[in-house]
Amino acid sequence: MTGRLRRPLVAGNWKMNGLRESVAIVEAVRNGLTPRMREAVDVLICPPSTLISSCVAAVYDTPIAIGGQNLHAKASGAFTGSISAEMLADLGATYVIVGHSERRAYHHETDDGVHAKALGARRAGLCGIICVGETKEEREEGRTLDIVRAQLAIGVPKGANARDTVIAYEPVWAIGTGLTPTPADIAEVHASLREMLGQIIGSEAQKVRILYGGSVKPGNARELMAVENVDGALVGGASLVAEDFLGIIAACA
Ligand code: PGA
Repeated sequence: MTGRLRRPLVAGNWKMNGLRESVAIVEAVRNGLTPRMREAVDVLICPPSTLISSCVAAVYDTPIAIGGQNLHAKASGAFTGSISAEMLADLGATYVIVGHSERRAYHHETDDGVHAKALGARRAGLCGIICVGETKEEREEGRTLDIVRAQLAIGVPKGANARDTVIAYEPVWAIGTGLTPTPADIAEVHASLREMLGQIIGSEAQKVRILYGGSVKPGNARELMAVENVDGALVGGASLVAEDFLGIIAACA
């Protein structure tokens, strides 16, 4: 897709999946990227932290970026089991997912916590992918826009810019379910998010990428990526199958 205002980003979130042998998926994606894909799309893979080093090695000298799935807001300290942005950067990661709905649901992450983590990512020179999204109940109650705008308003730090921040709209009910909102629903949410972003960071909001995530597959990617203000995808399940992930990248190219 030429003439885009923002270069699309296709990001894979492996979640808690992958052993050392799974680095082969990264190699297959690397080997399957066509010149057209390389030219038109930014590609990111976020494996579990245990695989970041090996994945960074596997994409050496390629345009594929590697990211973390979570971080602690502080740089270091007595926080057993946690990983800081500095540690991710030290491994060669350049992005980190912040406030994924699974972190919010299972680890009680709040919007204030997301804000602190986004600042941590910026401090270490990582690009934070800040996730927002409504639950099924919230959508049914007609509260989608209120919910995602509030998440954005609190989560995104002042002074955020297109280099250190990406937004991902991921309706909770669409994650891992095979369900997706209609293109019209996605267009409405993304337009509202961009407007809200404008209130926080001014004209820079036009440059910040807003990804759609939730059951993106090769079969629906073209339709979803054609929606106005959709600047790429955050992909869970389909990012674990190289052929599917490449199909989604191709749909953005
Ligand atoms: P899914 O997950 O593509 O498997 O729906 C998306 C996500 O959680 O980022």
